[in-house]
Amino acid sequence: MTRTVYVNGEYLPEDQAKVSVFDRGFLFADGVYEVTSVLGGKLIDFAGHAKRLQRSLDELQMANPVTEDELLEIHRELVRANGIEEGLVYLQITRGAADRDFAYPKDPVPTIVLFTQSKPGPAENPLARTGMKVISIEDQRWGRRDIKTVQLLYPSMGKMMAKAAGADDAWMVEDGHVTEGTSNNAYIVKGNTIVTRHLGTEILHGITRAAVLRFAREAQMVVEERPFTVAEAKAADEAFITSASAFVMPVVEMDGQPIGSGAPGRVTARLREIYLDEMRKAAV
Ligand code: PDD
Repeated sequence: MTRTVYVNGEYLPEDQAKVSVFDRGFLFADGVYEVTSVLGGKLIDFAGHAKRLQRSLDELQMANPVTEDELLEIHRELVRANGIEEGLVYLQITRGAADRDFAYPKDPVPTIVLFTQSKPGPAENPLARTGMKVISIEDQRWGRRDIKTVQLLYPSMGKMMAKAAGADDAWMVEDGHVTEGTSNNAYIVKGNTIVTRHLGTEILHGITRAAVLRFAREAQMVVEERPFTVAEAKAADEAFITSASAFVMPVVEMDGQPIGSGAPGRVTARLREIYLDEMRKAAV
């Protein structure tokens, strides 16, 4: 079955969906994106993703071609048309097509593309039982990581470095402190305290992060939002990541050294369970 995708107002079979070679997303990575997960055929934290999308667009003075209601409708229609029970919806908006020029074009027509990916069983992902291995690499991305742009080449290189080292992902490090994973936010646990980097321009403001920290505080866990070092991570009791596609996922090894017992930790498992339970209830 060919997928139905959404391009600039039309629902089309994926092999008929086209974007201009002059699109600034293609030429300049002049575009932003969101990934919203789907559980039980429903969208997880759609409002959070819509809000961050608007913020990314505003930071780049880029027009939003759709209202939030229209966006929700498009997401739902694609989930329905493609029969997605578990998976995700990818959304990208670029500044649109224009003759190549570094300056932003005047009154461009934005390009908007959405497609789905079916990922059966994300809640039962085996990595949640075994835990992920990460390596530490230098964070060589640009300085506005809070804007969710499509310039993902360095994270992509980081993922390949991790694979080459026999690991699942890379945690990026700047001035000795962990920023985040290649496509997720990073956390360590020491005793009853969860530590994750504070919000700023150095990391993406994860939608999953916001929900997980809220649930952690509600469960009387202590949360410290501050930078942590690689040495602290290696000496932690537990570590984990969060993202829309992985939810809460344990990290059990860094640079070949076990973290804590070397198995997924109790706090991580509890947060994953609370997150999945609560978000399924609130899904739209
Ligand atoms: N990535 N940090 C980075 C660099 C990310 O790319 C992501 C998400 C996150 C987590 O954000 P959220 O909880 O809102 O998904 C943090 C998505 C899933 C991706 O690129 O596929």
